[in-house]
Amino acid sequence: AAARIGVYGLGTMGAALALNMAEKGVAVAVANRSPGPLEAFVARAEPFAARITACGSLAELIAALPAPRLLLAMIPSTAPMDAFLDEVMPLLERGDTVIDAGNADFHATRARAARLEAAGLQFVGLGVSGGEEGARHGPSMMFGGSEASWQALEPILSRIAAPYEGAPCVDRMGPDGAGHFVKTVHNGIEYADMQMIAEVYDLLRHGAGQSPAEIAAQFGRWSKGPLESYLFEITATVLAAEDSHGAGPVVDAILDRAGQKGTGRWTVIEAVRLGQSATLIEGAVAARAWSAEGDLRAAAGAAFGTERDALQLDMNALEAALLAARVLEYAQGFRILAAASAEYAWDLEAARIAEIWRAGCIIRARLLDDIAGAFRDGAPEGQLLLAPRFAPVLAAGIPALRALVAQAVAAGYPLPVLGAALAFWDTLRQPRGTAALIQAQRDFFGRHGFDRVDGQDARHGPWWD
Ligand code: 6PG
Repeated sequence: AAARIGVYGLGTMGAALALNMAEKGVAVAVANRSPGPLEAFVARAEPFAARITACGSLAELIAALPAPRLLLAMIPSTAPMDAFLDEVMPLLERGDTVIDAGNADFHATRARAARLEAAGLQFVGLGVSGGEEGARHGPSMMFGGSEASWQALEPILSRIAAPYEGAPCVDRMGPDGAGHFVKTVHNGIEYADMQMIAEVYDLLRHGAGQSPAEIAAQFGRWSKGPLESYLFEITATVLAAEDSHGAGPVVDAILDRAGQKGTGRWTVIEAVRLGQSATLIEGAVAARAWSAEGDLRAAAGAAFGTERDALQLDMNALEAALLAARVLEYAQGFRILAAASAEYAWDLEAARIAEIWRAGCIIRARLLDDIAGAFRDGAPEGQLLLAPRFAPVLAAGIPALRALVAQAVAAGYPLPVLGAALAFWDTLRQPRGTAALIQAQRDFFGRHGFDRVDGQDARHGPWWD
């Protein structure tokens, strides 16, 4: 069959997406820079051969597509993407669309969209979540691009997306960088979720003396309740796994140094740029960064000691604390999305974002259905924290979180995310905090002025009289 879309880049994710398309009945043409992955792909794609056109070059791929073309690139969204655009733009015709389906910095996506638009082409920034498994059988996808390119792509994307109660987890977030930005915040939330899980693991393992297998069983139980989520499920599976080289639990065979490709960091940078703050995500990014300081950690441990005390942990209280922390994490995530939406005039729809995160993506969780419902009901001021349906969750969870953080901190355990969650909460619930003093200090040394409680227009302290 004549191909409806081209996929360029047959690495793990590109190959999985192309197979997903072919399996769901979308005829697809594929190509790769080097021949090896193309051959491997053709062998894997055997069952769907009738819907696959394998092309030996980019020019051949373009020639295999009917105009106006849809060309999805799954290559690193950094310099290789710009090099790819240099190469492909002269081969394309007005009205053709290039789709970047990688994890891109949305600022780069905005620049690329402007560049292609100036040449009469369209550029789509498509956030794709769900790892290889998701890409192969149904990812969650966040589309950023023109309404016209959405009309052209929607039938294909809806077919390959993960369904949630029958509805595909894909939608147009807005123009240019909107999809990639929503995906970036998704990953920021993913970082915070993973780190908060890791913090609880640390407390259970070293504070309560539980084995990885016992902790796996606990995460398995939590996965069947209000904390139900993909990340809890995989944590249970991972912690139960034994090392194939005989080192015992596989988690003990792994070097304690976390990798990061940048999306968590971008979320934090953009939050700060927008005058917001993503302290839970920042806690998770910081934990990964500090984990890489192996020599420093060894030296500090040797110099100051590594002791920490035992903990008394109640599993129900932990569950309540985790649920409240998750609500706080999403409250920050959606606050950043709202701020970016205003800054870039994207008109992001919070409820829709929560809805398409309910299946397919890495942060899929039962809680997201409630979050979508809270936004549909109209959360006061658009703030998740004020949504009536989360009042009981916070009323039960915050005291548990407070007791947990207090006990863990006193015993010497770092809680970069759970601790940040509590500080965020305790900051927000005080109408008057520390800022009046900051304003006085600023005025004292820099004559910056301040607003008065009584509304009078005396803007400076007596030190300037
Ligand atoms: C997803 C994942 C995916 C990828 C990230 C991981 O939504 O499917 O987020 O995009 O695994 O790149 O990010 P780090 O390498 O920074 O942890």
